[in-house]
Amino acid sequence: MKVIRARYAGACYGVQRALSMANDVVARGEAACTLGPLIHNPQVVDDLAARGVSVACRVEDVADGDVMIIRSHGVTPQVRDAAASRGLAVLDATCPHVARAQKAAENLARQGCHVVVVGEAGHPEVEGLTAYACGAGGAVDVVAGPGELPDGLCDPVGVVVQTTQMQEQLDAVVEALRARGLSPVVKDTVCFATRQRQEAAAELAQTVDAMVIIGGRNSSNTTRLAEICAKACERSFHVEAADEIDPAWFRDCRTVGVTAGASTPEDQIQAIEDVLRAL
Ligand code: F3S
Repeated sequence: MKVIRARYAGACYGVQRALSMANDVVARGEAACTLGPLIHNPQVVDDLAARGVSVACRVEDVADGDVMIIRSHGVTPQVRDAAASRGLAVLDATCPHVARAQKAAENLARQGCHVVVVGEAGHPEVEGLTAYACGAGGAVDVVAGPGELPDGLCDPVGVVVQTTQMQEQLDAVVEALRARGLSPVVKDTVCFATRQRQEAAAELAQTVDAMVIIGGRNSSNTTRLAEICAKACERSFHVEAADEIDPAWFRDCRTVGVTAGASTPEDQIQAIEDVLRAL
């Protein structure tokens, strides 16, 4: 069976940067913890825990003296304030693209816009975007798609998008706002890495007999890749680890495509490709 990897797959710039910052802390022998799992990849989080980087759910749970690592999704301004008031050392691994989206949300609110955040309600990045816009005095709505837009919106309306959302979601929301006669100010903060992985996965899924999508089930961008692949290739399988691969999935397959979410490190992709090649 021929194994073909998508042109773009696996750990993005922001994840690689966050991992390398966490590894540097370990190498310096500093006690550290991440606020929430560093990335949405259980294997990586377990590995960090084994090397002494624990996970705290809230600033209050961070032990005195620990370096608090902010993950690539970023945090709310309130979390930064809470860490500062406790005098904690903070290592900020917020992805620069997420920081740009936070700034965009804040600026839209400052300009007096009603801010529409296109994204997944409850996702930490979306909570951050919402908090930056609220902090700048804006009214905010989080919508997953055009169907969730509230009634009664009026100009000025600003739109910002969670970095890992699909471009089509943003376009659909903007179109729906325009159809209401509004003139939204749009900040397209969809991350290029996400776009590249989605396009490459869609392209590859059309040409292979089966697709394997690698990444945490709690990773929103990996889940999106799985959805995209499933549309183009009936035999699409989302897995986290090599031991989940079932040879029966690939009966009569001559080609299998592989893609991986932006929070999936290279060694995990290679381990699964090795298993597929051995089938
Ligand atoms: Fe950053 Fe894009 Fe990755 S926003 S964390 S480079 S998916």
